Amino acid sequence: MRLTVPSLIIASFLFMCSLSNFQTVFADESPCLGCHDQFKKPGKSVHPALGMGCETCHQAVSGKSHPDEKGSMKLSQDVPGLCFGCHEQSKFNGKTVHSPVAGGMCTSCHNPHQSGSDKLLMSDQPDLCYNCHDKAMFTKKVVHAAVMMGCTTCHNPHAGDFQKLLQKPVNALCQTCHAEMASGQHIMGQIAGAGGFHPVKGRRDPSTPGKELSCISCHNPHSSDSEKLFVVPDLCTKCHTKF
Ligand code: HEC
Ligand code: HEC
Ligand code: HEC
Ligand code: HEC
Ligand code: HEC
Ligand code: HEC
Ligand code: HEC
Ligand code: HEC
Ligand code: HEC
Repeated sequence: MRLTVPSLIIASFLFMCSLSNFQTVFADESPCLGCHDQFKKPGKSVHPALGMGCETCHQAVSGKSHPDEKGSMKLSQDVPGLCFGCHEQSKFNGKTVHSPVAGGMCTSCHNPHQSGSDKLLMSDQPDLCYNCHDKAMFTKKVVHAAVMMGCTTCHNPHAGDFQKLLQKPVNALCQTCHAEMASGQHIMGQIAGAGGFHPVKGRRDPSTPGKELSCISCHNPHSSDSEKLFVVPDLCTKCHTKF
């Protein structure tokens, strides 16, 4: 591959970052760091864009002296346009777009500079998500082990083509970790002596008009007060009056 001059600059910059040389690389060069010294102590994740210079995103307003005058600095472009200058916008589109992403609020979840969490996140998951989503949904008596692995195990935080920002359609998602449940055989164990297979898809869910039967007709994906994450304590009677 032939490297162009700009890509060489970026590549060598990324290399220097990888050596955690953040401080020495920029302290000498950037006139900003003399006063904004919080940037001399890099966090767990540091935005590679910092190394391209503070002026990549911040511009001095001509005629105003910084920091003495208000409004002496402005962003070179507003968020999210600023971010899309380097991050392909198409990745943030889909049939469903997460509301804060649609609203252009990238900095409600990411620090533009650096952070004590991965991926420049304002806090670790799931706390990040609890800033806006009621924690009670996820902390009932039985908590799904997958929730503790992080909400983005199942959801795309930005946008996606499946309902509720899921990484895959519901049953396919569940089956990535529970392949043996795909047949529905496990459900029949509930009736003494019964064998065979209970449908888990391809039928209407008799309890919820307009919905198709799936793993979440019976299991809450997050947490539940009932054993096995059942959506209701007396599961079978949700759909069957008697056998
Ligand atoms: C002489 C010290 C000094 C230098 C040099 C300096 N700053 Fe500042 N900067 C400050 C102070 C003090 C504030 C005000 C902090 C506050 O309002 O809490 C500030 C505030 C800011 C703000 C937020 C407020 C605003 O006006 O938007 C930005 C962004 C900023 N500086 C960027 C920069 C950049 C980029 C550089 C380098 C080009 C730089 N600063 C150089 C001292 C400095
Ligand atoms: C990738 C773009 C980007 C780069 C590079 C960048 N900033 Fe910022 N900075 C932002 C954005 C966006 C905000 C506004 C954050 C918000 O809306 O909450 C901001 C806010 C600030 C603020 C005010 C709020 C705060 O966090 O204290 C200061 C000061 C600041 N930047 C200084 C700097 C300095 C110094 C550098 C270089 C070391 C730098 N920035 C590099 C995007 C950037
Ligand atoms: C000047 C170019 C530039 C701008 C502007 C920019 N970024 Fe980045 N960003 C990068 C590069 C380069 C990387 C590293 C390669 C990658 O992940 O694409 C990166 C990586 C990231 C990462 C992943 C960090 C990690 O630890 O893996 C996040 C999150 C991010 N940027 C968010 C933002 C947000 C939010 C904005 C707007 C406020 C923004 N970026 C603006 C260049 C930029
Ligand atoms: C609701 C919170 C949230 C919002 C809003 C958000 N992000 Fe993210 N973003 C995340 C999370 C969580 C991850 C980490 C995903 C993971 O590790 O699985 C991430 C990852 C990223 C990455 C790294 C991708 C990678 O594959 O490593 C980039 C770049 C990024 N976000 C940019 C943006 C930009 C640009 C915006 C605004 C258009 C934005 N984000 C808005 C939560 C958010
Ligand atoms: C800044 C606030 C904010 C943060 C942080 C946030 N969300 Fe959201 N989220 C919303 C809003 C607003 C909605 C739309 C209203 C609703 O359905 O509750 C939404 C909706 C959703 C939906 C339903 C989407 C749909 O199509 O109905 C999912 C799934 C979701 N968020 C997951 C997450 C995950 C996972 C995280 C953490 C990575 C997260 N959210 C962090 C504000 C946020
Ligand atoms: C095991 C996979 C999985 C994990 C992990 C997971 N979710 Fe979900 N989530 C789902 C499924 C499946 C749905 C329901 C989709 C539907 O109703 O069609 C859902 C729905 C949602 C909704 C929409 C609720 C509604 O009533 O519209 C939100 C918000 C949400 N999840 C947030 C989160 C947050 C925050 C976390 C982390 C604390 C998380 N999820 C972890 C699978 C998961
Ligand atoms: C990333 C992997 C992963 C995904 C995806 C996943 N799970 Fe799980 N699930 C686990 C783990 C780990 C456990 C705990 C160990 C076990 O019982 O296998 C668990 C346990 C369960 C349990 C038993 C809970 C108990 O207390 O006995 C049910 C029911 C369940 N999952 C249903 C689902 C459903 C429904 C989906 C899809 C919405 C799903 N899982 C997606 C990993 C996953
Ligand atoms: C019609 C209701 C129903 C549907 C649909 C359903 N399940 Fe279940 N599931 C049950 C019942 C009942 C049990 C308890 C079985 C037992 O204890 O013998 C159970 C138990 C489980 C367990 C825990 C197994 C253990 O050993 O503790 C997992 C994991 C699970 N189901 C995953 C799934 C997945 C994945 C799907 C979708 C492919 C699914 N279930 C569809 C009713 C259902
Ligand atoms: C969310 C709704 C729902 C729940 C809950 C549910 N079922 Fe079903 N069940 C169905 C549907 C739909 C069918 C298929 C009916 C049809 O084919 O007409 C079915 C069929 C059956 C059949 C007949 C299977 C066959 O071979 O045709 C049995 C037996 C059965 N269920 C037992 C149970 C038991 C036991 C439970 C509790 C552990 C349970 N069901 C929970 C929806 C449900």
